[in-house]
Amino acid sequence: MGLLDGKVAIVTGGGHGVGRGEALELAAQGAKVVVNDLGGSVSGEGADKRPAEEVADLIRGGGGEAAANYDDVADWNGAKNLVQQTVDQFGKLDVLVNNAGILRDKMLFSMTEEDFDAVIRVHLKGTFVCTHHAATYWREQSKAGNQPRAAIVNTVSSAGLQGNVGQINYGAAKAGIAAMTIITSLELSRYGVRANAIAPGGMTRMSGAVVKDMELKEPEEYEEFNPMNPGNSAPMVAWLASDEALHVTGQVFRAVGSSIAHYLPWQLGPEVETPGEPGRWDPAQIGPMVNAYVFRSRNPGLQMGQMRAKTR
Ligand SMILES: NC(=O)c1ccc[n+]([C@@H]2O[C@H](COP(=O)([O-])OP(=O)(O)OC[C@H]3O[C@@H](n4cnc5c(N)ncnc54)[C@H](O)[C@@H]3O)[C@@H](O)[C@H]2O)c1
Repeated sequence: MGLLDGKVAIVTGGGHGVGRGEALELAAQGAKVVVNDLGGSVSGEGADKRPAEEVADLIRGGGGEAAANYDDVADWNGAKNLVQQTVDQFGKLDVLVNNAGILRDKMLFSMTEEDFDAVIRVHLKGTFVCTHHAATYWREQSKAGNQPRAAIVNTVSSAGLQGNVGQINYGAAKAGIAAMTIITSLELSRYGVRANAIAPGGMTRMSGAVVKDMELKEPEEYEEFNPMNPGNSAPMVAWLASDEALHVTGQVFRAVGSSIAHYLPWQLGPEVETPGEPGRWDPAQIGPMVNAYVFRSRNPGLQMGQMRAKTR
């Protein structure tokens, strides 16, 4: 008995790294899996059918059911075809894991328009386009009286939620995907669809583009637990995708190595009102009030700034 017996799942970018580990785990938990992968380079050039085919073969070799798909997740008709192929082949869709991605790291002053657009396109638009077509299918099912029990698991990164130098395109896309996760959960809950996200980790060809001289292995090549195995994020995806997590939606988690952590969303912190009667702020009043009531004991760097301001 697996957590995902009877479910049909799509994993985008399932040919390598994190997505490959997810496709294998979802299949091990009983799901029929459509392994999508365009098969291009880390920076998003070219195409190759072999990565998706290889993972689908691995699943079939282990006694599971799988199909390969080679569409570009950010192409409107490609993503539509991905959803259609899944429904045609396995009769339905229950789980969408939006994982595909590319990387083009540069400092913002050196980044070209093309580097910015390419990364935003695959991560942010790709997540939207696949979610759009899956949501259209689930809404039709719901209206026809077949209320789905469906789940979306998106892929974010600490680079977007906490920031990282050299990744302004990637970080902006990932922060956008975190926002999309919340909005998707709000819009689709009435149709029986949950949406959550994970920030995964592990040594992949993508992280290899940042961390040099690390041995690159695919998830199934690790024989024992290793914190660098990109397959370590997959159990959390399997749980989020399953009916065991029906109470979980609109949430973001980090799932790296042996750790699972909950990202808390943007939230309002300390607030100040104009002194005296409510009214429009005088800009000269803002510094003292914000320094005293908003930043106090929350950010040592800003407190130092405040002290300098006081002694000037
Ligand atoms: N590896 C990490 O430490 C780490 C950390 C945080 C987030 N992530 C995220 O995890 C996800 C997977 O990354 P990875 O590290 O496994 O990298 P990876 O390069 O090994 O895998 C990404 C896969 O996506 C595929 N892909 C790229 N563009 C595509 C497109 N347009 N359509 C379909 N498939 C496409 C690639 O062919 C590749 O197989 C990404 O979203 C990445 O941002 C990874």
